[in-house]
Order: sequence, then C-alpha cells, then structure tokens
Amino acid sequence: MKILKVLIIDDEAIYRLEISEFLTKKGFEVFEAAMPSLAFDILKKESIDIVILDINLPEQSGLEVLKIIKKTYSDIEVIMITGFGDMSTVIESMRFGACDFFTKPFSLIDIQTSIQRTQRCLQLTRKLKKTELNFALVSRELQQKIGNEIIGKSKAIRDVIDLMSKVAESDKTNVLITGESGTGKELVARGIHYLSSRKNRYFFDVNCSTVPENLFESEFFGHKKGSFTGAFETKLGWFEIADKGTLFLDEIGDLQLNLQTKLLRVLEQKKIRKVGSNKDIFINVKVIAATNQNLKKLVINRDFREDLYYRLSTFVINIPPLRERKEDIPLLLNYFVDHFSKIMKKNIKTIEKEVVEKLTEYYLPGNVRELKNMVEKALILCSDGKLVIRHFPSLEPMQKPLGTHSTETNYNLEEVEKKLIIEALFKSNFNKSKAMKLLKITRQSLNRRLLKYDINVRELKKQE
Ligand SMILES: Nc1ncnc2c1ncn2[C@@H]1O[C@H](COP(=O)(O)OP(=O)(O)OP(=O)(O)O)[C@@H](O)[C@H]1O
Ligand SMILES: [Mg+2]
Repeated sequence: MKILKVLIIDDEAIYRLEISEFLTKKGFEVFEAAMPSLAFDILKKESIDIVILDINLPEQSGLEVLKIIKKTYSDIEVIMITGFGDMSTVIESMRFGACDFFTKPFSLIDIQTSIQRTQRCLQLTRKLKKTELNFALVSRELQQKIGNEIIGKSKAIRDVIDLMSKVAESDKTNVLITGESGTGKELVARGIHYLSSRKNRYFFDVNCSTVPENLFESEFFGHKKGSFTGAFETKLGWFEIADKGTLFLDEIGDLQLNLQTKLLRVLEQKKIRKVGSNKDIFINVKVIAATNQNLKKLVINRDFREDLYYRLSTFVINIPPLRERKEDIPLLLNYFVDHFSKIMKKNIKTIEKEVVEKLTEYYLPGNVRELKNMVEKALILCSDGKLVIRHFPSLEPMQKPLGTHSTETNYNLEEVEKKLIIEALFKSNFNKSKAMKLLKITRQSLNRRLLKYDINVRELKKQE
C-alpha cells in the first residue's frame, strides 16, 4: 500500500512534534509547517494526502487556510485542531469541507481515532472519484457509439439527428418524440440524453401503459417508510432517480386521464412530495415523452389532456416510417447483417439483390424493429454465407387460402372487430378499462382500434 503523506500545520512546536513523532512511528511520511506560507510551499512540492490544521495560526486563520486547501487541492482531507469548547468553529470548518477534528490539549488516542476515520474517508472519496471517472469514460464511449448507431442517410433521418443535437443543448426543454412502432423513438430519446449535459446522470425510462393507478404517486414520487401498509422502506420515486438526468415517458398516449392530471401538476410546479411526507422536493428533470399514437386526435377525443399535450410538446421530433425513407433500408440491412454476423459468428459474403429489392417494396409495418428481427431470423436460417430471399419468409408472396377472396375476408374481419368493440363499450357503460378487460386486450390496443375505426366514445354515449 502507498505510504500516506501527512502535513501538520501548527505554530506551537510542542504539539507539532508530538503528532509528528506519533504518526512517523505509525508509518506515515510526515511534513511540518509552523505557518501557512511554509505549508503552501510544501503543498506545491509534495502530493499530500492529509493535512492536520490548527485553527489559530499566524498570518492567516486556520479556516482561511482550510478554504484555500479545499479549493486548490480537492483530493486532500483536512483534520482541524480546535480550542476546547470551540464548537462554532468546528461546525464552520465542517461546512468548508474538513473531514474531522480533535481539541487541544489532545491525547495520542485522539490523533489515532481521527486519522483512522480520515483514512477511511480518503479511501471512499478516492473510490467515488474513480467510479465517476469510469462513468464519464463509459458515457463518452456511449456518445460516440450513439453517433454511429443511428443508421440512415435519408434527409428525414439527418433532420432527426440535427434536431436531437439542437434540443440536447437546450437543457430544460421537454421533448415529444412521435412515430410508428419500431421507428427508433427510444433510440432517439437515449441519444438526446447522451448528447446533453445530463449524460452522467440517469436516463430513466417509464412505460406509461403499465403504471398502476393506485401506485402512481408511490412510483413517481416515492414514499416514506410506514406511509402505507407494505411501505417497509423509504423509497425513491422515479422523479428523484432521474433528478439532474432524463425521465423518459414512453407510450405517453396510454397514460390514464386522472394520472395525466397528476403528471401535469408536477411538470408545472417542478416539485414533488413523497407519499407520507409534508416536505416538497424540487426536481430538475428533462422530460422526453414518446408515443406511436396520434396525440392530437386523442386530445380531440378528450382521451388526452390538451394542457398536458402542450406542456410535453414544446419540441416535437417526428420519426417518419421506414417506408417513407426507403434509401435507409439497404444501410440498415447491411448494419444488422454485420451486427448479427458478429453475434452468431457467421461469415456472410453476399446478399442477393432480390432481398434488397423486395425489402424496399415491402410495407414494413413494424419499421426498423421488424427489419432487425427479419435479419436475425434470416441469419439463423442461412448456412452458406449467401443471404437469399428464401431466408426472408415474410417477403415471399403469401399463399391465399383456396376458395376465399382475401380482401373480402379482411373487410369482414374488420367489421366484426369494430362491432365487438362497440358492443363491449356499451356493455361496460363506456368505461374503457372495463371494455378492454371484456375484450381481453390492452389499453394501448383498444385506443389504437378506436382511432383506426374512428369510434368516438363520447359520441356513442350520447347515442345511447
Ligand atoms: N436508425 C436506426 N439505426 C439503427 N438502429 C435502429 C434505428 N432505428 C431503430 N433502430 C433499432 O430498432 C429497434 C427499435 O427501436 P426503438 O425501440 O427505439 O423503437 P420505438 O420507436 O421506441 O418502438 P415502439 O413504439 O414499438 O416502442 C431497436 O433495436 C433500435 O436500436
Ligand atoms: Mg419504444
């Protein structure tokens, strides 16, 4: 282990010597200074770990010296030597970053305990510094990766990347990311976080469609121990976890109406209160929300609060579907082939032209995620290093069932589905939660179908 260097600053030689002898015996390398100017000379030359500092000094007070040391050499831990009963100076020196203290006259045990405590403190702060440094390095790597990870050369995707870096610079602006499922909304949200000054803090993602109504406050704001049955420990809420970082509210369109009201209040007031606490906690969180639904239409149907919509959508980034930026398809195809080849240790030498052609013609309802899944499956099927259309079953023409007309079947199916939904709404007295249970589908899926079939619950209710 490295020998620790201790500097004793005290004008009374007798005390200096006593401490110095004791610490040298204990294996420390000890330096002494009778006044601040000498001490600063030593600090410049030696990399001191611990300073033992008397409060009453010539030239400058111990507190002034403490302030300078903490400002110039933040790695050094300082132990104060104070006069008996001088509690206010002790408190003040702690406030300025001293780690420990003992009072004059002192015994050797006092020095021993104090130096042990300080050594532990030193170890912990150095460990923390190292972790922070590692974290900063990882996050720098991540940033570089993200820059290279959003694949695409279309104007649409270049615009998205441009908007990402602009909004990342604007620290407090809320962002709304819209786009069909699988277009890369989460990827873009993470990208904004890692491009922003919040990159060394948490990016915390919350799926709004799964937030239980009765646990909203406890999850978002946290709770105090014993505030309700089952609250065994004090819990940090998501807003606190994401403090000085980013809170990603995914599938925001699925957040229940009464919960939307609660969320709006926090965003307006920028403070939260833990369940069971009467203290406000101010929060500093960048909120990025995402949805694959048409929020404006939800607002018109009164399924989404208009005021919340405006609060979230200060800055909107829309990611167009992949079928509208077809020039990105070959790039993404190559990228995912490379990606999965490495994972599966396969050597793909060629990709048949027909694969690219068919992919470009294909509607790709699941966007980039669908393409990624298709490539993964194709690589599992491919064994000779040549990717051909046979490896992409969903691109091959569908077999029509004999004796039926497929368009008609589709049409009927949709009619039946629409009727079932309307029926369920009537049965559940227009309560969407009950209707989705009757239909055994998720809220998201119900909302999507209401939009698809243009069913307005309020209008239906009026017709009753
Ligand atoms: N431009 C892109 N370049 C590389 N990978 C991408 C790109 N866009 C999306 N992906 C990848 O596609 C997958 C789906 O992306 P993501 O989860 O961000 O989509 P999403 O819009 O959030 O989808 P959903 O609405 O279903 O949640 C991820 O694996 C992501 O890394
Ligand atoms: Mg997503």
